[in-house]
Amino acid sequence: MANYEKLDHWSLKAQKEGYPARSVYKLKEMDEKFGLFRPSSAALKVLDLGAAPGSWSLYALRKLDTRSHLPVCSLLTAVDLSPLSRQYDKGLFDGENCCFIQGDITAALIREAIHARSPFNLVISDAAPSTTGNRSVDTLRSLALAEAVLDYAERSLASGGNLVVKVFQGGDTASILKRIRELFKTGKSFKPEACRSESFETYYLGLGRNTNVG
Ligand SMILES: C[S@@+](CC[C@H](N)C(=O)[O-])C[C@H]1O[C@@H](n2cnc3c(N)ncnc32)[C@H](O)[C@@H]1O
Repeated sequence: MANYEKLDHWSLKAQKEGYPARSVYKLKEMDEKFGLFRPSSAALKVLDLGAAPGSWSLYALRKLDTRSHLPVCSLLTAVDLSPLSRQYDKGLFDGENCCFIQGDITAALIREAIHARSPFNLVISDAAPSTTGNRSVDTLRSLALAEAVLDYAERSLASGGNLVVKVFQGGDTASILKRIRELFKTGKSFKPEACRSESFETYYLGLGRNTNVG
Protein backbone atom coordinates (compact mmCIF):
# COMPACT_ATOMS: atom_id res chain seq x y z
CA MET A 1 0.00 0.00 0.00
CA ALA A 2 1.43 3.41 -0.97
CA ASN A 3 2.02 5.98 1.76
CA TYR A 4 -0.83 8.23 0.69
CA GLU A 5 -3.27 5.30 0.79
CA LYS A 6 -2.53 4.41 4.40
CA LEU A 7 -5.19 5.46 6.85
CA ASP A 8 -3.62 8.44 8.59
CA HIS A 9 -4.72 10.22 11.76
CA TRP A 10 -7.26 12.40 9.95
CA SER A 11 -8.78 9.55 7.90
CA LEU A 12 -9.21 7.40 11.02
CA LYS A 13 -10.77 10.32 12.88
CA ALA A 14 -13.17 10.90 9.95
CA GLN A 15 -14.24 7.26 9.98
CA LYS A 16 -14.77 7.35 13.74
CA GLU A 17 -16.80 10.56 13.58
CA GLY A 18 -18.86 9.44 10.58
CA TYR A 19 -17.49 11.50 7.70
CA PRO A 20 -16.65 9.97 4.30
CA ALA A 21 -13.46 12.04 3.85
CA ARG A 22 -10.67 13.50 5.99
CA SER A 23 -11.14 16.85 4.24
CA VAL A 24 -13.87 17.70 6.76
CA TYR A 25 -11.15 18.75 9.23
CA LYS A 26 -9.87 21.38 6.81
CA LEU A 27 -13.30 23.02 6.73
CA LYS A 28 -13.74 22.61 10.50
CA GLU A 29 -10.42 24.36 11.18
CA MET A 30 -11.27 27.23 8.82
CA ASP A 31 -14.73 27.54 10.35
CA GLU A 32 -13.33 27.63 13.90
CA LYS A 33 -10.70 30.18 12.93
CA PHE A 34 -12.75 32.48 10.70
CA GLY A 35 -16.39 31.90 11.76
CA LEU A 36 -17.58 30.90 8.30
CA PHE A 37 -20.97 29.60 9.44
CA ARG A 38 -22.12 32.46 11.57
CA PRO A 39 -25.33 31.48 13.39
CA SER A 40 -27.89 34.22 12.93
CA SER A 41 -31.60 34.67 13.26
CA ALA A 42 -31.81 34.73 9.45
CA ALA A 43 -31.69 31.52 7.41
CA LEU A 44 -28.18 30.54 6.31
CA LYS A 45 -28.03 29.25 2.75
CA VAL A 46 -24.88 27.34 1.81
CA LEU A 47 -23.54 26.35 -1.63
CA ASP A 48 -20.99 23.48 -1.65
CA LEU A 49 -19.24 23.15 -5.05
CA GLY A 50 -17.31 19.92 -5.65
CA ALA A 51 -19.09 18.32 -2.72
CA ALA A 52 -18.59 14.54 -3.15
CA PRO A 53 -18.19 12.30 -1.27
CA GLY A 54 -19.90 14.77 1.07
CA SER A 55 -17.90 15.52 4.23
CA TRP A 56 -18.18 19.30 3.90
CA SER A 57 -21.89 18.99 3.15
CA LEU A 58 -22.39 16.74 6.19
CA TYR A 59 -20.45 19.20 8.34
CA ALA A 60 -22.78 21.99 7.16
CA LEU A 61 -25.93 19.96 7.75
CA ARG A 62 -24.81 18.72 11.19
CA LYS A 63 -23.62 22.05 12.50
CA LEU A 64 -25.88 23.28 15.26
CA ASP A 65 -26.27 26.74 16.73
CA THR A 66 -24.95 26.23 20.28
CA ARG A 67 -27.60 28.59 21.70
CA SER A 68 -30.71 27.14 20.08
CA HIS A 69 -29.45 23.67 19.09
CA LEU A 70 -31.09 24.27 15.74
CA PRO A 71 -29.17 23.65 12.48
CA VAL A 72 -27.06 26.64 11.46
CA CYS A 73 -27.39 25.80 7.76
CA SER A 74 -31.04 26.10 6.84
CA LEU A 75 -30.60 25.21 3.17
CA LEU A 76 -27.71 23.41 1.47
CA THR A 77 -27.13 23.14 -2.27
CA ALA A 78 -24.39 20.59 -3.01
CA VAL A 79 -22.99 20.04 -6.52
CA ASP A 80 -20.57 17.46 -7.91
CA LEU A 81 -19.82 15.35 -10.97
CA SER A 82 -20.14 12.27 -8.70
CA PRO A 83 -22.92 11.30 -6.29
CA LEU A 84 -22.63 11.91 -2.55
CA SER A 85 -21.73 8.93 -0.36
CA ARG A 86 -24.63 7.60 1.69
CA GLN A 87 -22.37 5.72 4.11
CA TYR A 88 -22.67 8.13 7.02
CA ASP A 89 -25.41 10.63 6.19
CA LYS A 90 -28.26 8.92 8.13
CA GLY A 91 -30.81 10.39 5.72
CA LEU A 92 -29.53 13.98 6.00
CA PHE A 93 -28.90 14.20 2.24
CA ASP A 94 -32.56 13.31 1.63
CA GLY A 95 -33.82 16.00 4.01
CA GLU A 96 -35.84 18.94 2.76
CA ASN A 97 -33.02 21.38 3.60
CA CYS A 98 -30.60 19.59 1.23
CA CYS A 99 -30.56 19.66 -2.56
CA PHE A 100 -27.92 17.74 -4.51
CA ILE A 101 -27.27 18.63 -8.15
CA GLN A 102 -25.13 16.14 -10.09
CA GLY A 103 -23.13 17.79 -12.86
CA ASP A 104 -20.27 20.02 -13.92
CA ILE A 105 -20.15 23.40 -12.16
CA THR A 106 -18.81 24.98 -15.37
CA ALA A 107 -21.75 23.76 -17.52
CA ALA A 108 -24.45 26.28 -18.48
CA LEU A 109 -27.43 24.13 -17.40
CA ILE A 110 -25.90 23.42 -13.99
CA ARG A 111 -25.09 27.12 -13.61
CA GLU A 112 -28.74 27.98 -14.21
CA ALA A 113 -29.93 25.34 -11.72
CA ILE A 114 -27.58 26.74 -9.07
CA HIS A 115 -28.46 30.37 -9.70
CA ALA A 116 -32.16 29.50 -9.40
CA ARG A 117 -31.41 28.64 -5.74
CA SER A 118 -29.47 31.84 -4.96
CA PRO A 119 -28.69 34.07 -3.13
CA PHE A 120 -26.36 32.16 -0.79
CA ASN A 121 -24.68 33.36 2.42
CA LEU A 122 -21.72 30.99 2.18
CA VAL A 123 -20.00 29.40 -0.84
CA ILE A 124 -17.55 26.59 -0.02
CA SER A 125 -15.55 24.78 -2.67
CA ASP A 126 -13.10 21.93 -2.33
CA ALA A 127 -13.46 21.15 -6.06
CA ALA A 128 -10.32 19.67 -7.57
CA PRO A 129 -9.59 18.28 -11.02
CA SER A 130 -8.51 14.64 -11.40
CA THR A 131 -4.75 15.00 -11.22
CA THR A 132 -2.53 13.97 -14.14
CA GLY A 133 0.81 14.14 -12.33
CA ASN A 134 1.82 17.04 -14.56
CA ARG A 135 1.89 19.95 -12.14
CA SER A 136 1.38 22.69 -14.78
CA VAL A 137 -1.65 20.94 -16.26
CA ASP A 138 -3.15 20.22 -12.82
CA THR A 139 -2.57 23.79 -11.66
CA LEU A 140 -4.20 25.25 -14.78
CA ARG A 141 -7.26 23.02 -14.34
CA SER A 142 -7.53 23.91 -10.67
CA LEU A 143 -7.28 27.60 -11.58
CA ALA A 144 -10.15 27.24 -14.07
CA LEU A 145 -12.31 25.63 -11.37
CA ALA A 146 -11.40 28.35 -8.84
CA GLU A 147 -12.37 31.01 -11.40
CA ALA A 148 -15.74 29.29 -11.95
CA VAL A 149 -16.26 29.25 -8.16
CA LEU A 150 -15.44 32.98 -8.00
CA ASP A 151 -18.04 33.63 -10.70
CA TYR A 152 -20.62 32.00 -8.41
CA ALA A 153 -19.41 34.05 -5.45
CA GLU A 154 -19.62 37.24 -7.49
CA ARG A 155 -23.08 36.55 -8.86
CA SER A 156 -24.86 34.71 -6.08
CA LEU A 157 -23.39 35.59 -2.67
CA ALA A 158 -25.51 37.91 -0.57
CA SER A 159 -23.94 40.96 1.02
CA GLY A 160 -21.76 39.98 4.01
CA GLY A 161 -21.44 36.39 2.76
CA ASN A 162 -18.27 34.30 2.94
CA LEU A 163 -16.29 32.17 0.49
CA VAL A 164 -13.78 29.30 0.74
CA VAL A 165 -12.14 28.04 -2.44
CA LYS A 166 -9.40 25.48 -2.97
CA VAL A 167 -6.46 26.31 -5.26
CA PHE A 168 -3.36 24.41 -6.31
CA GLN A 169 -0.33 26.59 -5.64
CA GLY A 170 1.69 27.68 -8.67
CA GLY A 171 0.39 29.36 -11.80
CA ASP A 172 -1.56 32.60 -11.59
CA THR A 173 -3.17 32.12 -8.18
CA ALA A 174 -2.34 35.75 -7.39
CA SER A 175 -5.12 36.80 -9.80
CA ILE A 176 -7.61 34.73 -7.78
CA LEU A 177 -6.60 36.40 -4.52
CA LYS A 178 -6.71 39.81 -6.18
CA ARG A 179 -10.26 39.21 -7.38
CA ILE A 180 -11.30 37.95 -3.93
CA ARG A 181 -9.92 41.14 -2.38
CA GLU A 182 -12.01 43.21 -4.81
CA LEU A 183 -15.21 41.31 -3.93
CA PHE A 184 -14.75 40.92 -0.16
CA LYS A 185 -13.81 43.09 2.80
CA THR A 186 -11.03 40.58 3.58
CA GLY A 187 -9.22 38.09 1.33
CA LYS A 188 -6.55 35.69 2.60
CA SER A 189 -4.91 32.34 1.99
CA PHE A 190 -4.83 29.59 4.60
CA LYS A 191 -3.41 26.07 4.64
CA PRO A 192 -5.21 23.90 7.22
CA GLU A 193 -3.25 21.38 9.28
CA ALA A 194 -5.17 18.46 7.77
CA CYS A 195 -3.67 19.18 4.30
CA ARG A 196 -1.17 16.48 3.44
CA SER A 197 2.39 17.81 3.84
CA GLU A 198 3.27 16.83 0.26
CA SER A 199 0.11 18.46 -1.16
CA PHE A 200 0.37 21.73 -3.06
CA GLU A 201 -3.25 22.66 -2.36
CA THR A 202 -4.22 25.64 -0.26
CA TYR A 203 -7.43 27.58 0.39
CA TYR A 204 -8.38 31.17 -0.30
CA LEU A 205 -11.01 32.84 1.84
CA GLY A 206 -13.19 35.82 1.12
CA LEU A 207 -14.85 37.22 4.25
CA GLY A 208 -17.71 39.70 4.02
CA ARG A 209 -19.01 40.03 0.44
CA ASN A 210 -19.11 43.73 -0.16
CA THR A 211 -21.92 44.05 -2.67
CA ASN A 212 -25.50 43.04 -2.14
CA VAL A 213 -26.73 40.80 -4.94
CA GLY A 214 -29.83 39.58 -3.13
C1 LIG B 1 -11.48 16.68 -2.90
S1 LIG B 1 -13.04 16.24 -3.56
C2 LIG B 1 -14.15 17.12 -2.50
C3 LIG B 1 -14.28 16.52 -1.13
C4 LIG B 1 -15.44 17.09 -0.35
N1 LIG B 1 -15.18 18.46 0.05
C5 LIG B 1 -15.71 16.29 0.90
O1 LIG B 1 -15.38 16.79 2.00
O2 LIG B 1 -16.25 15.20 0.82
C6 LIG B 1 -13.09 17.18 -5.05
C7 LIG B 1 -14.37 17.00 -5.82
O3 LIG B 1 -14.41 17.97 -6.87
C8 LIG B 1 -15.25 17.43 -7.87
N2 LIG B 1 -15.16 18.17 -9.12
C9 LIG B 1 -14.05 18.37 -9.88
N3 LIG B 1 -14.35 19.08 -10.98
C10 LIG B 1 -15.69 19.34 -10.93
C11 LIG B 1 -16.60 20.05 -11.77
N4 LIG B 1 -16.18 20.62 -12.92
N5 LIG B 1 -17.90 20.11 -11.42
C12 LIG B 1 -18.32 19.53 -10.27
N6 LIG B 1 -17.51 18.87 -9.41
C13 LIG B 1 -16.21 18.77 -9.74
C14 LIG B 1 -14.78 15.99 -7.98
O4 LIG B 1 -15.76 15.18 -8.60
C15 LIG B 1 -14.53 15.64 -6.51
O5 LIG B 1 -15.61 14.94 -5.94
